[in-house]
Amino acid sequence: MRIDILTVVPDLLESPFNHSILQRAKDKGLAEVHIHNIRDYSTDKHKNVDDYQYGGGAGMVMAIQPIADCIEQLQSERAYDEIIYMTPDGKLFEQSEANSLSRLKNIILLCGHYKGVDERIRELFITKEISIGSYVLSGGELAAAVVADSIIRLLPGVLNDETSALTDSFQDNLLSPPIYTRPAEYKGMKVPEVLLSGNFKLIEEYREEESYKRTKERRPDLLKD
Ligand code: ADE
Repeated sequence: MRIDILTVVPDLLESPFNHSILQRAKDKGLAEVHIHNIRDYSTDKHKNVDDYQYGGGAGMVMAIQPIADCIEQLQSERAYDEIIYMTPDGKLFEQSEANSLSRLKNIILLCGHYKGVDERIRELFITKEISIGSYVLSGGELAAAVVADSIIRLLPGVLNDETSALTDSFQDNLLSPPIYTRPAEYKGMKVPEVLLSGNFKLIEEYREEESYKRTKERRPDLLKD
């Protein structure tokens, strides 16, 4: 899978893709992440990428030209399945969306900055708009990193233990059960007996029960469906 991320602050996206699972996905050739500096596409003599808002009001708006040129350049090289704008007024991002996106071949993530992009960019190019939560970030970069991370870890072969992504919280609308490692007792706090029993049927039942209990307590909204 290939993910192209368009941003005016590429430095913000350097680190997230160069460690751990995402680095391994790239090394194995399972995922490609390309970061594009929108400023490089500006034809303005000062390389400006933003301008004042028509009608007045605080905050600058990301101009059409550099973004359009960057997207059109990429589209001339390959077909994109989705061109996604990261924005707080987008659809709330959920595991089910990560699952769907992980089945695609090429996607673009456009990061908004300042007040956001000129509305005509959205009309012309954007096929999907995603918010990672009901709060406003300084830009779409951290949101794009969140979305890319959640997608890449689902690609077959990225995680060592093939079943690991399937047992994540949310995969079946349930939160994960509590987990433990050694020691079996710490300051009098014991690991639940059943987990030491070696009885896999009982362990499975215990985990399902705890998942359900935790979901009911913390995220009852997930159980509605
Ligand atoms: N850009 C700014 N805030 C955002 C959010 N909550 N989700 C996605 N993109 C954003």
